[in-house]
Amino acid sequence: MLIRIVRNPLEALPKAVYDAPLTHTEFLGRQRFHVMDPALIQETLVGNADALEKGPELRRSLGPALGEGLLTANGAHWKWQRQSAAPIFRHDRLQTFLPAMLEAASETRDRWLQLPPGSEIDIGDEMMHTTFDIIVETMLSGHGNIDVARVARGITQYLEATGWLFAMSLLNLPEWMPYPRRRRTETSSRYLRGTIGGIAAARRSAGSQTGDLIDLLLQASDPETGRTMTDDEITDNLLTFITAGHETTALALAWSFDVLSRQPQPYTDRILAEIEAVTGGGPLEPAHIGALSYTRQVFQEVMRLYPPAPIIARVTTKPFTLAGRPVPVGSMVYVPIYAIHRHKMLWDRPEEFDPERFAPEPSKARHRYAYMPFGGGPRICIGSGFAMLEGVAILATLLRGVRLTSLAPQPPEPRMRLTLRPAKPLMMRVEPRG
Ligand code: HEM
Repeated sequence: MLIRIVRNPLEALPKAVYDAPLTHTEFLGRQRFHVMDPALIQETLVGNADALEKGPELRRSLGPALGEGLLTANGAHWKWQRQSAAPIFRHDRLQTFLPAMLEAASETRDRWLQLPPGSEIDIGDEMMHTTFDIIVETMLSGHGNIDVARVARGITQYLEATGWLFAMSLLNLPEWMPYPRRRRTETSSRYLRGTIGGIAAARRSAGSQTGDLIDLLLQASDPETGRTMTDDEITDNLLTFITAGHETTALALAWSFDVLSRQPQPYTDRILAEIEAVTGGGPLEPAHIGALSYTRQVFQEVMRLYPPAPIIARVTTKPFTLAGRPVPVGSMVYVPIYAIHRHKMLWDRPEEFDPERFAPEPSKARHRYAYMPFGGGPRICIGSGFAMLEGVAILATLLRGVRLTSLAPQPPEPRMRLTLRPAKPLMMRVEPRG
């Protein structure tokens, strides 16, 4: 079981997660619940939100890099950080980020168009680069002097070690225990915190007022104590937003191009026809993105099959009951999004790609918690609106400019490293769309 957890936690899921509403097992003396039924998920994540915390495994795997930022914190410390960051994700503010999203997508397209036709690209790397540019531009008001490639590499190297950190935490092994590539992981974490911490400190002394995420965090004050954030806490959050805010969207996009390239041409043709109808043949403008409803359906369907955050994990701090079963304090509660999105009771032909599932009528008929790429309850993704705009803007810009073809004959195995990554790089051939 531990080997499976390190190799790919999706393989360690009980078999019943694809057809049962709830499973209850014991592992290393701890009660484990996997919740798949949408009504039970709602009861867990919303009804019993105050009985749940992010588990120690998450904090042990991510804590060294992300400290106690928004993703990893609990209780009151989580709440004031969430309230402090919220204004930047309001609907009107999100719209102002669209020019940066479209510009980064166009830069990627233009870079590809400079390559000799038929060149091979790693679409995963390319999307990381594009979404990284966007997150830094929108949240931090630009790159400053960050070494973008090195920061992105540091994040990838760090995430690669999380399987070990996760398993070691499950086994209660001491913090000093060695694990493969430990030194590289620690160097990455130190580099990331040093670089991003430098930005936070420089902005504090410059006293700038751009209204970006750094300013919001610098101005935030805890409603209970009145204190403000230290540079270390600001670093926790900037790194959290940079990591959570680019990696997930990049993966959803990379999977999208791979899935589309394996489908019959009419799927892509319909997206292209929608873009032409909405733009009238002119350039894609921010105002067009909301009207690209079929493109959005495709993006949603890809995130059903390949949810970038495939499992939500919690530990219980108060007892409650679920479907008549007692859930004692200290239980592990999992919401396996990947399995819910392929569950036999919730989806017709669950393994098949079909964007019609997200047309208005079928979407309305579906339980809110049968499809949850962004999670649910108070800890729902703060960046979901941002990610949807960004995903559609990038898909539309790139599909319109180039033709992408997957080189591997079979779709790659999805492997969980906190996020859902392809087991091998997704190599694609890129050609101008004539
Ligand atoms: C397709 C893209 C994305 C997916 C699939 C995704 C998914 C998720 C999920 C499932 C959670 C909840 C985790 C849990 O309950 O344990 C989450 C939380 C979070 N996400 Fe996203 N996310 C995406 C994009 C973004 C973006 C663009 C940002 C920031 C700009 C972001 C920032 C965060 C943060 C800060 C949290 C923690 C929120 C909290 O605990 O209050 N995410 N995300």
